[in-house]
Amino acid sequence: MKSIIYNIGTLAGILPEGVLKLEGAQMNEVKCIENAYLVIEDGIITDFGPEKTKCADSDAPYIVNPNEIPAVISSEVEKSPEETEYIDAKGGFVMPAFCDSHTHIVYAGCRDGEFRDKIAGLSYEEIAARGGGILNSADLLHDTSEEELYRQSMERVNEIMAMGTGAVEIKSGYGLTVEDELKMLRVIRKIKETTPLTVKANFLGAHAVGRAYRGRQSEYVDLVCNEMLPKVAEEGLADYVDVFCDAGFFTVEETARILEKAAEYGIRPKIHANELEVSGGVQVGVKYNALSVDHLEKTTEAEIEALRDSGTMPTMLPGCSFFLGIPYGNAKGYIEAGLPVALASDYNPGSSPSGNMRFVMALGCIRMRLTPEQSFNACTINSAYAMGVSDTLGSITIGKKANLIITKKIPSLAFIPYSHQTPIIEKLILS
Ligand code: NIG
Ligand code: FE
Repeated sequence: MKSIIYNIGTLAGILPEGVLKLEGAQMNEVKCIENAYLVIEDGIITDFGPEKTKCADSDAPYIVNPNEIPAVISSEVEKSPEETEYIDAKGGFVMPAFCDSHTHIVYAGCRDGEFRDKIAGLSYEEIAARGGGILNSADLLHDTSEEELYRQSMERVNEIMAMGTGAVEIKSGYGLTVEDELKMLRVIRKIKETTPLTVKANFLGAHAVGRAYRGRQSEYVDLVCNEMLPKVAEEGLADYVDVFCDAGFFTVEETARILEKAAEYGIRPKIHANELEVSGGVQVGVKYNALSVDHLEKTTEAEIEALRDSGTMPTMLPGCSFFLGIPYGNAKGYIEAGLPVALASDYNPGSSPSGNMRFVMALGCIRMRLTPEQSFNACTINSAYAMGVSDTLGSITIGKKANLIITKKIPSLAFIPYSHQTPIIEKLILS
């Protein structure tokens, strides 16, 4: 099957083959072609370039006026016209679909009661310490069947697709018992099998200490290492392993124990670090070759130095800062230090009940003072890297999968985060 997108006002996010992430000053640019076409064959981008208007001896097969297409199409296309689909971008942008490298979208019910507590002045830590927070979601999940959990989660999957997300990482971590963690991971696997989204599963058994283990944190870590991880690995349910390495949750030593065990099964970490305190999570993540360290609302020079020359993507979650009213990660400082930065939504019921990557891109600009180009790169190629898919997604590159957003006609790249509530998505193509 061949598709030709023509009449593209701006083709944005072009990268050469082999670029898996952008760092430092490389993040300042988004390469674009104005008035472009793009060819997709069997879900893969096989060609793109500037479109030329009809001209008798032009060797360019792609034209602006759709009515004239059959007359000037290349001989190769003429051979099988019935298999070729023409998509008129009507002067809009064509860009890579967003990659959301950090979410918790499989959960049961919601936590709107805690929203009231939060407004009344309780902090995230205070709500958690009262047995609310993650444990509240674990209780709800325990009482929800696997089918119902899938149904509720699919509503959020469809919601994020409608907002332009083409790839998503989904964590477990609201089970906190062997059975319930497996239940969550099976739901994530079913989402993987039943949606056009690219999905990566992340096992977050160490999200909080399960209720039955209250006061016995070390034994809970044993449970994660000796019972949960072997079963998760045996069933092939996780692409990654995660730990909430932060004040009041899991220590650096406990994190190391879990990552050590995960390494025996060949499961690479992506971890939560430095949301509530400078936790040492970044350093332990880098030590165990984490693909990403996420949150980073609290960081010092030491974290920047630990990440330098590592393969670990610093990932910031501005939706969480927005919702909890906590500081934003120092994305600009990281980029000025020559590092890459990815942005993700952290969609979850407690600290970021939104998976809108366009809003994330806007917060990147408005609150973290990234340029629209830096924020665009953080939400596409770098977030693709942070979930291990940047070899096939995250940019307009020959040979990559065609996961694309076609927008309405918009004036500029900056318009995407600037007018972030204006509906602009005309079509999402997922391959
Ligand atoms: O990334 N920080 C830990 N986990 C989530 C919040 C989970 C919850 O509160 O339900 C986060 O913010
Ligand atoms: Fe999270």
